[in-house]
Amino acid sequence: MPYPSNLSISDTVKEVRRLKRWFQAGVFSFVYALIPLYAFVFNMEKLHILLINAIGLSMAIVVIEVAFAEMLKLRLRSEQGLRDADEQVIVALAVAVEGKDATTHGHLQRLARYALRLGEALGLDDRQLLFLRYGAILHDIGKIAIPESIVSKPGPLSTDEWYEMRKHPVVGQQICAPLRFSDEVGPLIRHHHERWDGTGYVDSLAGDQIPYLSRVISVVDAFDAMTSDRPYRPALSVDEAMKRLAEGSGTQWDPVITDVFLGLIRTERLDPVEVQSDARQEAA
Ligand SMILES: [Fe+2]
Repeated sequence: MPYPSNLSISDTVKEVRRLKRWFQAGVFSFVYALIPLYAFVFNMEKLHILLINAIGLSMAIVVIEVAFAEMLKLRLRSEQGLRDADEQVIVALAVAVEGKDATTHGHLQRLARYALRLGEALGLDDRQLLFLRYGAILHDIGKIAIPESIVSKPGPLSTDEWYEMRKHPVVGQQICAPLRFSDEVGPLIRHHHERWDGTGYVDSLAGDQIPYLSRVISVVDAFDAMTSDRPYRPALSVDEAMKRLAEGSGTQWDPVITDVFLGLIRTERLDPVEVQSDARQEAA
């Protein structure tokens, strides 16, 4: 698979276990509620009642265990099937946008890796990590609707070209609207060019108004763009890119998220050279 995956089944497992607990409580309460009833109806002795009760409960436990194990298996299979389908759609869309923008080869593979590592360090749960990964891969999907002469232009854009280019977050959200995770990922795409100080686009959101995962994507997107070769400039060194991120912390980027990302690199828990090399191998 060309993009790193960190899918988790823990949500489904938790949901089925919760359902099972409620079901067990209901069945056991029902069995116990019947004790006085059949004791009265059949005029039974205490020992017989306890015996019948024990048999009834044992059978109920076995049936519940087997039924819920089967239910979990089916749910996991269906969830995995949906996620496999999501993966295929995402990879196809990502390949389309990478094909369009020849200047950013391998950017999305690296971005997905950086985003996941940063997301884990920020303590995101599995569900958030999944949407973060989707958002990282799809954030620039709207560029497929922008003329290639603009998207791949090696030099600075004219005012008119910038006008066109700035449409890509909204177009990207529209492209992803039919996908089943669009409610979660659409806003990440729309707001990935907002700035912490409110001077970004498309809605000029500021600070906490910007979706949290968009702020994460914004940091890793900038770092990877800075440390990658572009037709109009060579890649910056990791140190220089870190310096620029630190300078823009609190104006362009969320200061806390930026700090955590820089900390990951400083403490060597994240090695950009390794990420670049892994992404190259995957893409090859
Ligand atoms: Fe973008």
